[in-house]
Amino acid sequence: MKFSHEWIEKNPWLLIGLVILVISFGGMVEIVPLFFQKSTTEPVAGLKPYSPLRLMGRDVYIREGCYNCHSQMIRPFRAETERYGHYSVAGEFVYDHPFQWGSKRTGPDLARVGGRYSDEWHRSHLDNPRDLVPESNMPSYPWLATAKVNPAEGAPRMRAMKTLGVPYTDADIASAAGELEGKTEQDALIAYLQGLGTQIKTRN
Ligand code: HEC
Repeated sequence: MKFSHEWIEKNPWLLIGLVILVISFGGMVEIVPLFFQKSTTEPVAGLKPYSPLRLMGRDVYIREGCYNCHSQMIRPFRAETERYGHYSVAGEFVYDHPFQWGSKRTGPDLARVGGRYSDEWHRSHLDNPRDLVPESNMPSYPWLATAKVNPAEGAPRMRAMKTLGVPYTDADIASAAGELEGKTEQDALIAYLQGLGTQIKTRN
């Protein structure tokens, strides 16, 4: 049989091999350029590494599983940008290890929640969401208000982030314990939330 399309289709193993080859090549053509594009690898203007308090708050966010109900990824559609503000861009997440994009939205997207409410609002909301939003099914997190952050835990976290490419200086790391002294987990979580998405601020 001569070498033809029919011949390929009648040889399952050859077909599988060629399909894998084509898909891997196509995938590489799409993905590899992103590694070299500034818009996907460089921080957006004004993006700073998380302060020690916000970094601890981010860990509380992950520990409490907030990502199970909240995404942090505004898609570039009208319905999303009208509600949440400017769509998310890759350069906003270069210091996020791991990122918290998520896809489950039992609650609203939080990518640009920073500055939307006062710290006091967040305190009441975390203590008991129903005090502010009667129909809310978000759990209460009252223990965060009294649980203290351990000041010694900031520096090792920052050093770990540094190995992943976050540009902390030795001075930043040395001052971590001072910034965390006397803070509660609620303080840390609110500091984290209040910074989310504030580099690109276009809320209507
Ligand atoms: C079971 C799902 C669920 C979990 C888990 C959850 N939330 Fe929520 N969250 C919601 C829902 C639903 C709303 C909307 C009603 C409200 O404001 O309470 C909401 C609203 C919010 C808002 C207000 C957003 C806005 O734009 O109005 C913030 C901030 C928030 N959640 C933070 C958190 C944090 C931080 C955690 C983890 C400690 C968390 N949520 C865990 C369901 C959840």
